[in-house]
Amino acid sequence: MHSPLILAIESSCDDTSAAVMANGEILSNVVATQQVHEQYGGVVPELASRAHQQHLIPVVQEALRRAKVAKTDLDAVAFTQGPGLLGSLLVGSMFAKTFALALDKPLLAVNHMRAHILAHFIRDPKPAFPFLCLTVSGGHTQLVVVRSPMEMEIIGQTIDDAAGEAFDKTAKLLGLPYPGGPHLDKLARQGNPTRFAFPVGAMPGYDFSFSGLKTSVLYFLRQQTQQNENFVQENLADLCASIQHTIIQTLLRQLRRAAHDQQLRQVALAGGVAANSGLRTALQELAVAEGWEVFIPDFEFCTDNAAMVAMTGHFQYQAGQFSNQLISPDPRLKL
Ligand code: KG4
Ligand code: ZN
Repeated sequence: MHSPLILAIESSCDDTSAAVMANGEILSNVVATQQVHEQYGGVVPELASRAHQQHLIPVVQEALRRAKVAKTDLDAVAFTQGPGLLGSLLVGSMFAKTFALALDKPLLAVNHMRAHILAHFIRDPKPAFPFLCLTVSGGHTQLVVVRSPMEMEIIGQTIDDAAGEAFDKTAKLLGLPYPGGPHLDKLARQGNPTRFAFPVGAMPGYDFSFSGLKTSVLYFLRQQTQQNENFVQENLADLCASIQHTIIQTLLRQLRRAAHDQQLRQVALAGGVAANSGLRTALQELAVAEGWEVFIPDFEFCTDNAAMVAMTGHFQYQAGQFSNQLISPDPRLKL
């Protein structure tokens, strides 16, 4: 089997990333995270596209330099086709297409959500097929049965906000900086997770709903601050811990139900929210009780990165799934 040398580009949201992979081994993974959005409390699409334009070429040059690879030695160029922000995807895809055209190399169009799942194959330990993957990011919450690198089936997903959004939006209500997930996680470690009870969206099957949580936190804080204007500051850690506990319980209840019904004992976590320390601990505890084997990629490969795009490109290369130059980005690309 040919051992491809792949350059991969990721630009779906607010991280500009490039990675080089040789025969499935990662040689470099460079990520430039955009700071410009923090002051607006969320990703501003127009600014994200501009920042990708500024960062992309230096990031690619750095990835090639760290990998000690000459561009002429590359076998293929992989890029994120979607889902994501159209302007951001356009920058990455135009670069990848032009680069591949100039070098006369094939293109590999990668689905960002598949890439989050296949990040599990970058480093050991790697799950064996089939396994159940819970992908939790700022834009998505999906329960996926992964039968092979190419065969994946969504069995449950959010009907409104993503888990990462639930973290970020409630963190914003507490006055934490954007993105709030990591801040809320840190504060929650000092708090009491059962001090405040928030409703857990009860969905049939394996779906999720998080918009009710945000609304109930909003009303609760309004009511409490009317009586005590320092309520949030005085109870910040307990509020964070209680909100985080609610999100984790919601995620794990559906995960457990799905693993039971599908009779899968290998359970994987993917996406940026997999960095949450409370979720990691709760999942490990549940795994002991359920007899599951749990897989969580290194933090570097949980948040948006081009190494996972390279890994997915590698599998597509092996399967002969190349794209032509007519391909365009798809902001709503399905898994
Ligand atoms: O996968 P990702 O990097 O980007 C998307 O594709 O969305 O995920 C980013 C999301 C954000 O919502 C961020 O707040 C959340 O992951 N996140 C966390 C933590 N670290 C990142 N949420 C909770 N706890 C964390 N430690
Ligand atoms: Zn992502």
